[in-house]
Amino acid sequence: MSAKEAIHITDVAPRDGLQNQAVHVGTAGKLRLIELLVEAGLKSIEATSFVSPKAVPQMADAADLVPQVQVRFPALRTSVLVPNLKGLERAHTAGAKEVAVVLSATETMNRRNINMGLAQATEVSEQTLAAARALGLRTRAYIAVAFDCPFEGETPLDDVLRLAARMHAAAADEIVIADTIGSASPAQVKERFAALCGVVPIERVAVHLHDTRGMAVANAWAALEAGVRRFDSSVGGIGGCPFAPGAAGNVATEDLVLMAERSGFSTGISLDGLLAAVDFAQEELQRSLGGRAITWLRRQRDKNTQDKQDNNRRLA
Ligand code: COA
Ligand code: ZN
Repeated sequence: MSAKEAIHITDVAPRDGLQNQAVHVGTAGKLRLIELLVEAGLKSIEATSFVSPKAVPQMADAADLVPQVQVRFPALRTSVLVPNLKGLERAHTAGAKEVAVVLSATETMNRRNINMGLAQATEVSEQTLAAARALGLRTRAYIAVAFDCPFEGETPLDDVLRLAARMHAAAADEIVIADTIGSASPAQVKERFAALCGVVPIERVAVHLHDTRGMAVANAWAALEAGVRRFDSSVGGIGGCPFAPGAAGNVATEDLVLMAERSGFSTGISLDGLLAAVDFAQEELQRSLGGRAITWLRRQRDKNTQDKQDNNRRLA
C-alpha cells in the first residue's frame, strides 16, 4: 500500500479566530488554546498579530504571548501577522521566526483594513517581506479578498494573479489565497487556482477559507484537486475579520481534517485532540462552537469512550 500524501494545516484560531470576539481572551487562555492545538498534532499555528492595539484590542498582548509560545513549543512553526515594518520590528523583538503580511486585492479593503491604498499596501508588503528575509524569518503573504470584496464586489482574477506574482517575486515562502468573506464556490476555486498555478509554484500556495455560506469544505476539496496542499483553518470554526462585514468563521480544522483523512490524505492531527481544543474555546468564549461535523464527532468520541470502558470492565 502506498503511503498517504500529507497535507499541511496552519491553525489560525488564536489570531483570526480571536481577533473579532466580543469576549476578551487573556494571554493564559491563548497559551492554553495553543497548547491543546500542539497536543492535537498541529505543527503550524498563527498565534497573534502585531497590529495597532486600538484597531484590534484582542491582539494587544502579542509581545507577551510570542516569547512564551516560543519557549514552550520550540518545534512549533509560530506565525504572526504583521501589517507593516513597525509590526515586523515588534514581532522580531518578541522573537517571532515567521511573519505574514496582509495585502488585500482591492483598493477599498486595504484602506479599511490597514489604512493604505492598494499601491502603497503592495509596496509596504514587499518592503516588509524583504526586511523579514534579511532578518532570516520565514514569510507568508496573504492575498485577502481574493474572490470577492465586501465593498467592491467580485475581485478581478487578473488583480489576484498580478499581486500573487508580486508577492512571489518578493520571495514570500507561502502565498496565502484568502476567501476573506467566505463567498467562493468550488467552481471559482477551481478556476482561480488553475490560473494561479501559472504564476506561482503550487507548492508555495496556501488557501485560507471562511465558511459564511457553508461551502468551505467543498472549496477545500476543490483546492486539493487543484494541487494545493497547504491550508489555513481554525479549530471550532471561530474567526472573521473585524474590517470585512458579514464574514463568518474560518473552515473548522476538525471539518478539514475529517474531510482530508476520509479522502486518503494524512494530516498528523488527532480529531479527539481538536475536540478538546473546541471544548476549551467554548468555555473561554462562552458560546457553542464547532464546524459542520461537530455533533457527529462528539457522538463518535462518546461512543469510543463508552466502548473502551466496556472493554476494560470485561477484562477486569
Ligand atoms: N503595531 C502597533 N502599533 C502600530 C503599528 C503596528 N504594527 N503600526 C502603526 N502603529 C501605531 C503607530 O505607532 C501610531 O501610534 P501613535 O498614535 O501612538 O503614534 C499609530 O499606530 C498610527 O500609526 P500609522 O502608521 O498612522 O497607522 P494607521 O493609523 O494608518 O494604522 C495599521 C495602520 C496597519 C497600524 C492599522 O490599520 C491596523 O493595525 N490595522 C489592523 C489590521 C488587522 O489586524 N486586520 C485584521 C487581520 S487581516
Ligand atoms: Zn481569515
